[in-house]
Amino acid sequence: MIFDTHAHYHYEAFDGDRDNLLAVLPENGILRIVNASSSVSSNETTLQLAEQWPFVYAAFGVHPSNTAELAEENFKRIKELTDHPKCVAVGEIGLDYYYDEPSRDLQKKWFAAQIQLAKEKGKPVIIHSRDAAQDTYDLMKAEHAGDCGGVVHCFSYSKEMARLYVRMGFYIGVGGVVTFKNARVLKEVVEDIPLEYIVLETDCPYLAPVPFRGKRNSSLNLPFVVEQIAQIKGITVQEVEEIIWRNALRLYRFSDIGIDS
Ligand code: NI
Repeated sequence: MIFDTHAHYHYEAFDGDRDNLLAVLPENGILRIVNASSSVSSNETTLQLAEQWPFVYAAFGVHPSNTAELAEENFKRIKELTDHPKCVAVGEIGLDYYYDEPSRDLQKKWFAAQIQLAKEKGKPVIIHSRDAAQDTYDLMKAEHAGDCGGVVHCFSYSKEMARLYVRMGFYIGVGGVVTFKNARVLKEVVEDIPLEYIVLETDCPYLAPVPFRGKRNSSLNLPFVVEQIAQIKGITVQEVEEIIWRNALRLYRFSDIGIDS
């Protein structure tokens, strides 16, 4: 039983075979997916996917690199969407200084506003943070993001930083990168923090694990990530799957929507 806590099946990369691909996921053990919106328009395509597929749930929000698209008017629409019965999180939101645009001030403004939205609606947040470790942490602290909790997706910082996020009430999202040869720091994070705080994700179509590195990713590749985590932790694949499945249910509060397993 695998839960992909962060996928982007609305992306163009899936336009040719989206329905065929999604249709075979459950029979391959991928029993639940959260599709994370990243832009104003992808909030709508994410909604369509969640309405079409029983096992697809939605996160609504705008990625830091797209925050220039946001205005009070379309933010209102996102607020509405977060009341949808299949919405389990606000995201992905955060700070991205790798591309470093729009301005850091604008990214911070909308990051804070979306954290407040999550707190208002009682939903967790999905955090995207790239080359912005300290600012992300400081802003989350200032906005009391621990009150809503959530996941730091595609975690790319140190184990010291991971410990701080776990202490704040956050899960650590681990995907294909952990299988890369040069992923020493992420492997250390996985080794260091208790398995109870790790969730699985693809970030597909990006970040396919070895042996498919560089190719289009999908949830079907998650067993390679599970295998790597099991090796690092020195436990069986089955134990990893069981614990991580329950972590994802806690992260997205499935008991709140009447689903306990
Ligand atoms: Ni993503």
